[in-house]
Amino acid sequence: MLSKLLAITFSSSLLLSGFTFDMASAKTQNLPRVHKNQTSIGQTEVPYLSDSASIDRVIRAMTLEEKAKFVVGVGMPGITRAPFEITGAVGGTYGIPRLGIPELRMADGPAGLRIRPTRPGQTQIYYATAFPIATSLASTWDTAVAKVVGEAQGNEVKEYGIDMFLAPALNIHRNPLSGRNFEYYSEDPLISGKIAASVVNGIQSNGVGATIKHFAANNQETNRMIIDTIVSQRALREIYLKGFEMAVKESHPWAVMSSYNKINGTYTSESADLLTTVLRKDWGYKGFVMTDWFAGKDPVEQMKAGNDLIMPGSPKNSNLIKLAVEGGRLDEKILDRNIKNILRIVIQTPEFKKYQNSDQPDLKAHAMVARKAAAEGMILLKNKERALPINKNKKIALFGNTQIETIKGGTGSGDVNAAYTVSIAEGLKEAGYQINQELLSKYKTYIDSMRRQEPYKIKPHPWGEDFGKLVPVIPEKPLQENEITSASKETDLGIIVIGRNSGEAEDRKVVKGDYLLSDAEQDMISRVTTEYHNQGKKVAVILNIGGPIEVASWRNQVDSILLAWQPGQEAGNAVADVVSGKVNPSGKLTTTFPVKYSDVPSAANFPGTPAANPAKVIYQEDIYVGYRYFTTFGVKPAYEFGYGLSYTDFDIRDVKVNKGKKFKGKLTISTMVENTGSFPGREVVQVYVSAPDGKLEKPAVELRAFAKTKVLKPNQRQLLHFNLKAKDLASFDEEKSAWVLEKGIYTVKVGASSENIKGSATFTVDHDMIVQKVSDVLKSKVGFKRLTKQ
Ligand code: BGC
Repeated sequence: MLSKLLAITFSSSLLLSGFTFDMASAKTQNLPRVHKNQTSIGQTEVPYLSDSASIDRVIRAMTLEEKAKFVVGVGMPGITRAPFEITGAVGGTYGIPRLGIPELRMADGPAGLRIRPTRPGQTQIYYATAFPIATSLASTWDTAVAKVVGEAQGNEVKEYGIDMFLAPALNIHRNPLSGRNFEYYSEDPLISGKIAASVVNGIQSNGVGATIKHFAANNQETNRMIIDTIVSQRALREIYLKGFEMAVKESHPWAVMSSYNKINGTYTSESADLLTTVLRKDWGYKGFVMTDWFAGKDPVEQMKAGNDLIMPGSPKNSNLIKLAVEGGRLDEKILDRNIKNILRIVIQTPEFKKYQNSDQPDLKAHAMVARKAAAEGMILLKNKERALPINKNKKIALFGNTQIETIKGGTGSGDVNAAYTVSIAEGLKEAGYQINQELLSKYKTYIDSMRRQEPYKIKPHPWGEDFGKLVPVIPEKPLQENEITSASKETDLGIIVIGRNSGEAEDRKVVKGDYLLSDAEQDMISRVTTEYHNQGKKVAVILNIGGPIEVASWRNQVDSILLAWQPGQEAGNAVADVVSGKVNPSGKLTTTFPVKYSDVPSAANFPGTPAANPAKVIYQEDIYVGYRYFTTFGVKPAYEFGYGLSYTDFDIRDVKVNKGKKFKGKLTISTMVENTGSFPGREVVQVYVSAPDGKLEKPAVELRAFAKTKVLKPNQRQLLHFNLKAKDLASFDEEKSAWVLEKGIYTVKVGASSENIKGSATFTVDHDMIVQKVSDVLKSKVGFKRLTKQ
């Protein structure tokens, strides 16, 4: 690394000038706070960054110019400045060698580390592992799996010489069309917060930093850099900030990335209410805040707000900051505060500790982690007469282009340059299935010939090689009648693969080929199922998608639907694990699949107004996001939040709450889970609570806890316990600016989905309780009508 080179050059120049400062021995010898053997200018000793005690002295020794440069990143390769030694790193901090401050390097996630695989003049290839997309990871409902994925990702970050990973991302699935939903976990803040905290803990166990992003209410791509999100304080606290609050408190991420959008009129990166009052004062955050790339307008306001670092940064930003201090518009103390926040993290980084990265993470081991997580995140949406699993000695015919061009993950900064993607066709073949060769080779020929034609040629990504490739969607291969007939005669099962992709900078659309099936896909489903059913055989659909599509109009035609998501580079192998029954599917939806798009509560307010070029978006649905809306307003979804089938059956029973059934500061819930089927498997047990309407109205149910069983053998049982505290059950009262627990009878509903409740119990809260007072900030300046039950 260049910065490593600088560090070496610097220490040799120290040696030449007679200094022998050695960080490691300084630590072990417990030297006095001001090191005697530091470099000096004239008579003045110049401090050197060594530990947290040295930070204030180092800041005092910085010139104003150095300060103004340090709070601004060093640019972005290809766009501003900074051709980094780690090609594909997307940003870095400014180093001040004379004070012992190294440069840090940052690179993207969240599905894996995004760096460029090739470097000029080198033969080594720098691949990273493409893990399943965030929505898939959350669909595991397994915090242990999320932590292991985080550990593997953090190891690649460290071994490739990066200090800060720009992940995980945990914005809310407010609307299924948001182009980056695949990078986010859920429509629910509890599952988002728990999975994010586990991933952060995993990443940071390597001694590298995680960055939770995009803080906050960044739930669409349309006009993302200017859109003004108009939202109530209650919806902010309960839905859009809650996951971040949990991640901050449960995993202490080194950095938070503020978002592009405004909240109630102010850019998040310029909002002291958000970045200082909520994040630091209310939540006790101790890391640093960086902007999203090129976000916001005014660097001085960003500094004041507590946005410690401007990314990717330009000399213009530093100049404006320096001029503002000189002109009295910005107090230098603010700069000192921000610098301190960053330096407290700098001293923990591999770069500061002079870690010699190997450039050789164990990609084979990480591929296995990716495969396991991908299979655990797959969701069986339908399985009529147990069409799946299917034995490996059976014959399968595969339909749909995506069997070959399987999609590992979404596009944009969340893409990963992986060594390979195992296609669904390859994975099933590898597992031992006899794939109908004739049909497979016709698909291959078709795809090859289409890819040679201009509109479908795979091109370098317009944002640069680091961002992977631009892969235009090719129309479904037209199916000849005899192709379907002979495949249905020769094979035991037909599998249709449907694929969708989306990514940064653009939202999805309710059009054929995106949210809706294309005519060719509809046609493929009806003709293939008709032929197979005529033969008394079954058809399964595999959905290789990053977010919901319309399913209600076609699902009755097919026997099984496996939602594989975009499962990362091991896609085909993970699909084969589930299709074969090697892994019994145990994923559950973390996002609702509506019957029709217009059923979505935010449908009328997405992506904002004016429709031609939205400047603002009003979150009129308020707290009724996702299942909170569907359950409260009695709208039946196609597949509800929490839904997912298994090859076995489970009984969830004996739901109990603690003795006396009174809430006294904490609540213990227990339930027994039993595998009543004939296949080993795992069940996700979901604890919803229905709170009584008081001064505040409440959604019909809210997820308050969850757990996943171990693999239970047939007839095996597991007793699960859940502990809830007042804050876990509380609602946000805007008048009091507080989390409150209102008195009344609460019902605990334990089940296998938000609509499939298996047992319940009640408890009472005797009097209204103020659980936690927080700051009265982020109020909407304009009135708007909120969705209400009344
Ligand atoms: C994205 C961030 C990303 C950054 C750096 C931005 O466009 O919104 O998620 O970390 O670019 O690539």
